[in-house]
Amino acid sequence: MSKLYDFDNLSDRHIDSARKWDETIVATKFPNHRKDFIPLWIADMDFKAAPEIRKSLVEMAENGAYGYTYATARWYESVINWYKKRHRINIPKEWLTLGYGTVPNMHVLVQAFLDEEDAILLNTPIYGPFAYAAEHNNRKVIKIPLIKDDRIYNMDMVSIEKAFKEDKPKAIFFCNPHNPSGRIWQMSEMTQLAELCQKYKVLLVSDEVHSEHIISGTFNSALALDEKYLQNLIVLTSPNKAFNLGGLKLSYSIIPNEKIRETLKDQYLKNSITSPNVPGQIAMITAYESCLEWLIQCEDYIRINLEITEEYINQYFNGWELMAMDSSYLPWVDISSSGKSMHEIATRMADDAGVIVGVGDDYVADAEGFLRLNLGTSHVIITEAMERMRKTWATMEKE
Ligand SMILES: Cc1ncc(COP(=O)(O)O)c(C=O)c1O
Repeated sequence: MSKLYDFDNLSDRHIDSARKWDETIVATKFPNHRKDFIPLWIADMDFKAAPEIRKSLVEMAENGAYGYTYATARWYESVINWYKKRHRINIPKEWLTLGYGTVPNMHVLVQAFLDEEDAILLNTPIYGPFAYAAEHNNRKVIKIPLIKDDRIYNMDMVSIEKAFKEDKPKAIFFCNPHNPSGRIWQMSEMTQLAELCQKYKVLLVSDEVHSEHIISGTFNSALALDEKYLQNLIVLTSPNKAFNLGGLKLSYSIIPNEKIRETLKDQYLKNSITSPNVPGQIAMITAYESCLEWLIQCEDYIRINLEITEEYINQYFNGWELMAMDSSYLPWVDISSSGKSMHEIATRMADDAGVIVGVGDDYVADAEGFLRLNLGTSHVIITEAMERMRKTWATMEKE
């Protein structure tokens, strides 16, 4: 019988100065929030990292040396073996480059492959920083709305092709699995997209940071596309979402094509992105070498949180609909039929229920009428949050 991990005893989020739990940061969005608030917004988890990771970090901390390091052979091996065992994908060592976070990587990538005034294309709604990477660098963003069909999004291939042809973006930043909905894209859809990218010479950038928390189905990486598409592909990923290591600020890219890889590396040099941070690398290696069982149990725990949430929403929240979530711990809730606006609901939830939820306008475009929750916390907290929200919604519905 394998070891049982404890997800009920959470970490003290004040020690790591978590943005999610910080009163002043919450107040910037919700100035009249209840003081005993439960934060179900910013996307990190309240669980303690796997004990194996904590142990390796304690050993490092006690050793007392935090000097300059490099991406070690063990780091490369740990990533290669992880992909083999978790995703059945073989990655040659040369394809890997360590960087300082997926969002920073996107900024570097924009600098490397786009000139000023060039554009990236995004399927919206999508995680806000995808657009910042372009906007912060004076590049443009072309937005093609996803098509909502019942509880899932589909890509609008006709509009994507039209935009590729007419507006000539240099790259598409593709989110796989999709944030905010948690949808895992099918190989057939990705092949269609990759074909268009090849035809119109648009670089396919696949952000796969949400690939590890699988709620239902199996993850399809863009790395499993046909070889001919791999030559036009950059995968950006990290263990940060899976193992809750976002504050350690490491991530990596997987790039099969040598020329693309060298262009990106050259841009790293220009930004002096050279060596990783010591705890980040140690935590990542430990996660990939020793924490698969922790991750599987974490998924099981989140699945129960999702069941609790679904039960509440289906039973008590008229006009609310949870999008089908294949992955992640971040349900995307369509409240467009509820008769209230997302801001109205989010503010009342913060002020009256004391539950802080994410609001659609953090997601680039086409997210009016959506809220986002965060299930990366204990069953007790999720139940308490849903119970408080139920009472507030019961009042709101009558107004
Ligand atoms: C789609 C997506 N990409 C990237 C990130 C950040 O990734 P990292 O921690 O590797 O920088 C997030 C975090 O929420 C995300 O949702």
